[in-house]
Amino acid sequence: MTAVISDDRRLQTAAAAGFTIRDALESDLPIVIDIYNATVPTRMVTAELEPTTVEARLPWFREHSSDQHPFWVVESDGRVIGWLDFKKFLPRCAYRGTAEISVYVDDRFRRQGVARRLLEEAIARAPSLGITALVGLIFAHNAPSLKLFERLGFDRWGLLPRIARLDGVERDLIVMGRHCPARATRPALHGPGFAGSDSQLNECLNLMHTLMQYRQEPIHAQLLKIRDKYSMLHLDVLILIYHFAKICSGQILEIGAFVGGATIAAALGVRDSGKRKTLLAIEPGGSLKHKRLSTRNISRDLERNLARQGVLEMVTVIKRHSFKPETISAVQQALGPDEIGLLILDADAAKRRDIQCYGEKLADGCWMIIDDYYGSDLNTKIAASRADVDELVAAGCLQPLGFYGWSTWVGRWRRNYCSC
Ligand SMILES: C[S@@+](CC[C@H](N)C(=O)[O-])C[C@H]1O[C@@H](n2cnc3c(N)ncnc32)[C@H](O)[C@@H]1O
Repeated sequence: MTAVISDDRRLQTAAAAGFTIRDALESDLPIVIDIYNATVPTRMVTAELEPTTVEARLPWFREHSSDQHPFWVVESDGRVIGWLDFKKFLPRCAYRGTAEISVYVDDRFRRQGVARRLLEEAIARAPSLGITALVGLIFAHNAPSLKLFERLGFDRWGLLPRIARLDGVERDLIVMGRHCPARATRPALHGPGFAGSDSQLNECLNLMHTLMQYRQEPIHAQLLKIRDKYSMLHLDVLILIYHFAKICSGQILEIGAFVGGATIAAALGVRDSGKRKTLLAIEPGGSLKHKRLSTRNISRDLERNLARQGVLEMVTVIKRHSFKPETISAVQQALGPDEIGLLILDADAAKRRDIQCYGEKLADGCWMIIDDYYGSDLNTKIAASRADVDELVAAGCLQPLGFYGWSTWVGRWRRNYCSC
């Protein structure tokens, strides 16, 4: 169901600039439920007749997943003022591409374009979520919601007459729907693997957009400090690692942790996801001379830095080379039946070797961060890393979604298309 709001265009422009949309956390649930409950007595929005509770709604909240059926909240000045969720339209497989969306906005922030902003985001992101059609179920007497959906390209796909009884009155339900096709015109994407599908383009743009959004949030300053103290990677890459660790379904494997910069970024993402995720960091140790981050004992400094940032307990450090049979079995044992949803590869040049070692455990769609893809002097490490990545892209196993920082390749593992 949908609680909207006839929007006022004058206010909308000003207010939209200050909105931040992000994945909801379990800690947002009390305010999410408050916003929802406020609509119950109106009899306009939800078929729920009595207010609900956080406890009752926890299982429903946990059914969402950031990369398929996300649950977003919208914030203004750090305060949650609305939310939107995606859910399966119907459980049968043929409806996999169709999602039902619901949007609710705090009473005090209606008529400011909040619902419109959430819906626009849902429409824009649908293709990259694998969603080809969106539906909203709206009471026929909820004129503002119907109007807003119509403005955003939804049509009336169905009418369920007198299907609800609210305070003794029979009410109709309208099924509002719209397809979310790939865009008709698309700029060509160049470079290896950029076949340029529209959903891929959307995913690339969404990542850039996400990165921009994080620049306005406190995590940006926190990761800047982590980068300066502990990481060779670019701040943007650490932010993406944080983001993927937060949204990924599945566990996290990092190869080449060094003194912990990327590991800490991933751990903070896991912490902010509010979910339990296994975070494995493979690092054989040793010493390194570096203009900024020299160390005589990588393993010692890695553990010390994780402890200083309060994330040591969240990380399992495997102090061996990635390709050793003992390392592979330690990772398999730690993962059990679970799959990897984020792989961070920043060790030596043998990217293909490491991917092969853990390929069976990579989930389809696993987020991949692979460093050493680009360098002005095409030294041996970069040339070899890049050749490995390009081959896997050409084979359909890796889907590129962008190049970030100084030399990092970002994309997804496509197990189901991989011809290796
Ligand atoms: C470039 S550093 C990683 C930097 C780190 N990601 C950061 O945020 O600064 C590469 C690390 O990979 C480690 N390494 C090299 N070969 C490895 C392998 N086969 N398995 C695991 N780690 C490896 C090295 O010891 C080194 O600490």
